[in-house]
Amino acid sequence: RWIERTRLDDASTVLRRALAEGFFREGTSAALFHDLGRVRARFVELETRFPAGTLHAVAVKANPVVEILRALVNAGAGLEAASFEEVRLAIAAGCPASRIVFDSPAKTRDEIASALALGVHLNVDNFDELDRVASALGNTRPPPIGLRVNPQVGGGSIALTSVATRSSKFGIPIERRDEILAAFEAHPFLSALHVHVGSQGMPLETLVEGVARVHSLREDIERRVGAGRIQTFDLGGGLPVAYRPDDVPIPLSAYVDALKTKIPGLFTGDLGLVTEFGRAIHATAGWAASRVEYVKQAGDERLAVIHLGADLLVRRAYRPDEWYHEIAVLDADGRPKAGPTEPVTIVGPLCFSGDVLAKGLALPCIDPGDFVVIHDIGAYTLGMWSRHCSRGLPLVLGYDGDTLSVLKNRETPDDVVTFWSR
Ligand code: LLP
Repeated sequence: RWIERTRLDDASTVLRRALAEGFFREGTSAALFHDLGRVRARFVELETRFPAGTLHAVAVKANPVVEILRALVNAGAGLEAASFEEVRLAIAAGCPASRIVFDSPAKTRDEIASALALGVHLNVDNFDELDRVASALGNTRPPPIGLRVNPQVGGGSIALTSVATRSSKFGIPIERRDEILAAFEAHPFLSALHVHVGSQGMPLETLVEGVARVHSLREDIERRVGAGRIQTFDLGGGLPVAYRPDDVPIPLSAYVDALKTKIPGLFTGDLGLVTEFGRAIHATAGWAASRVEYVKQAGDERLAVIHLGADLLVRRAYRPDEWYHEIAVLDADGRPKAGPTEPVTIVGPLCFSGDVLAKGLALPCIDPGDFVVIHDIGAYTLGMWSRHCSRGLPLVLGYDGDTLSVLKNRETPDDVVTFWSR
């Protein structure tokens, strides 16, 4: 079973340790915390649910902090890269090239050549890219190379994280079945199939149906070009997590059981498997704490101004109906606050009115100097950081049992000047 999100009491304990160890001195007003023990536990659950030997390539884009990637690699993970830069991050984290999976719909000729020279897995997004790979390969022995197929199963409840609609920009639409079979015939180096259906908001049935549709190509391909040709099947990621208290999470076990039932040929042992989970590994392992800088009255609303906003949570600001994070308050010493609740609106520091994290939340009375805790920010937050107003990236701390360590220093004003300079 996935472990639930960090409890506020545990966040309080970790925050108090961070305060005692001086991490909030010298201009630090906010920090992100990543529970590395929890990340490892999730990874172990992946390993136990899937057949031994499955390559679990965790999506770098979900959380690109190198020390977090390193913790995963040390636990036995591979890494999935959505850009050549992410391939480099994976290497920097100590991941062997043979355990890196490079997916991107925009690979350049140079990136393809470099990826082939490194020996990373390559998932080809379209037929033109396939031609580029064929000409880059020459006579060299290829690493595993797959074709990404869009199963065209439709979207989930969140359009922007659904990638298997009929005209999605990712992969080759499965309706071009004949051309897909011809491509396998023309290119003997193609040895894998790749599918990724979507992310948050995908129903279990849609995820499984997407994988099943692409897996059904295996038989057609092998009938055409010979048995054993498909050596690897990459089923992507996409397991949603429970952000709201009343969200019902899809347990990994339910997903794996549904895959087994619907696609008996998937787990038979003669097919190498790859997964690319991101959100399910990281989202609920991360939380943020920001000092409250000001509390002010605006019309009928009490506003608490904090140091994290739409820069960290861009989706929440622009699509407040679709995205949600539990928010709580701790006092200036990091202890839970008691007392009657009153409505407060939590706003970020950026220069637009949409920079709101929660409206009219019922929380114990917030004072300047208190900490606002934002839960479940471990995936697709820092990696989607917005440079609006040029505020520096926050400090990232990791903890594992009793040890607390810096995973990434905060960006200082000098660092930001460097970033924006020639
Ligand atoms: N593999 C591929 C090819 C992907 O495109 C993705 C996510 C994953 C794996 C990992 O999926 P996960 O297990 O994390 O759901 N910007 C979005 C997130 C987009 C995720 C897209 N692809 C957000 O606002 O949260």
